[in-house]
Amino acid sequence: MNTYETLRKDLAAAPRTWLVTGVAGFIGSNLLETLLQLNQRVIGLDNFETGHQSNLDLVQQAVPGTAWAQFKFVQGDIRKLEDCQRALAEGVDYVLHQAALGSVPRSLEDPIRTNSTNIDGFLNMLVASRDAGVKRFVYAASSSTYGDHPDLPKVEDRIGRPLSPYAVTKYVNELYADVFARCYGLQTIGLRYFNVFGPRQDPDGAYAAVIPKWFGALLRDEAIHINGDGETSRDFCFVANAVQANLLAATTQEAEAVNQVYNVAVGDRTTLNELFSHIRDLASASQPELKDVNPVYRDFRAADVRHSQADISKAQSLLGYAPTHRIAAGLQDSAAYYTTHVGKHV
Ligand SMILES: NC(=O)c1ccc[n+]([C@@H]2O[C@H](COP(=O)([O-])OP(=O)(O)OC[C@H]3O[C@@H](n4cnc5c(N)ncnc54)[C@H](O)[C@@H]3O)[C@@H](O)[C@H]2O)c1
Repeated sequence: MNTYETLRKDLAAAPRTWLVTGVAGFIGSNLLETLLQLNQRVIGLDNFETGHQSNLDLVQQAVPGTAWAQFKFVQGDIRKLEDCQRALAEGVDYVLHQAALGSVPRSLEDPIRTNSTNIDGFLNMLVASRDAGVKRFVYAASSSTYGDHPDLPKVEDRIGRPLSPYAVTKYVNELYADVFARCYGLQTIGLRYFNVFGPRQDPDGAYAAVIPKWFGALLRDEAIHINGDGETSRDFCFVANAVQANLLAATTQEAEAVNQVYNVAVGDRTTLNELFSHIRDLASASQPELKDVNPVYRDFRAADVRHSQADISKAQSLLGYAPTHRIAAGLQDSAAYYTTHVGKHV
């Protein structure tokens, strides 16, 4: 089996063409940066619904000019089949489909919009990828698919009932991918991300994820809210681990590894109270007055899962996945990013 290190060398020696949807978003722009650093040709599709031009600008600054010249941006909407076809028109080896509307609360506010992007848009991308004859379709699935299943850690084949419209959409993605594999022979792999975090994750807006939101709030002297008692826990996964999983999934030659879904996480569990202490310690390194800040506790949030922790042994054994960052190292890199960039793209 390929290790990530040998894979990176192989890719750099023999460039392929990748389509990254949601490329102006958090995970998409991190995929773009790594792929360009490995000399790959990348087409990116986005409609800037929740992504930012500034994420693309930061990637441009981070890679050599020759690498940036290998990137082509297609502004388009996955809810339109012709936009998906346009992004695939020049020949693509691997699709890394990230475009979607994230956030459980957003889906509770507007289930129709979440459904049209996450299910209609997903189906458009499957159809266009099938018709374009891509080698593999790797997509962002979600730990929300575990729903109300009580077992910890979470194992891929034991799921419960979805707890939100968002979770329904991500589960339907898995069902469609499986059916496209069976009916049309499209090779698919779903990556069930568990609370991915890292540079370029948006700290702003009503639906911001907890880590960027807390870095943003602390650095701007705003209140930090903890929903519930703070003992809710998550398997926080640094974005470099998610990038690694995507590259391994797209290129694996192991037949039994294909047409599967995998947990993508670290296998650790951190409570919100522990997370707050980590973030406060890191932010107070540059602003010592922050060390006395305390969170404000409020009600539990609707449709939130109480505890989440992944069993990552399937990805380890079938894909050769070996996460490089546990939460502390990932938060350190994130702190460096938010200290420099908070507030810059708004
Ligand atoms: N971040 C996490 O913790 C996490 C966890 C589980 C699953 N996921 C999934 O990972 C993927 C990426 O998430 P992210 O955190 O990078 O979010 P993000 O909001 O930063 O990125 C999503 C990108 O998709 C684009 N997009 C949205 N609707 C689109 C449309 N109709 N057409 C074209 N582009 C569109 C947005 O503009 C944005 O750039 C999503 O599918 C999300 O559901 C993320």
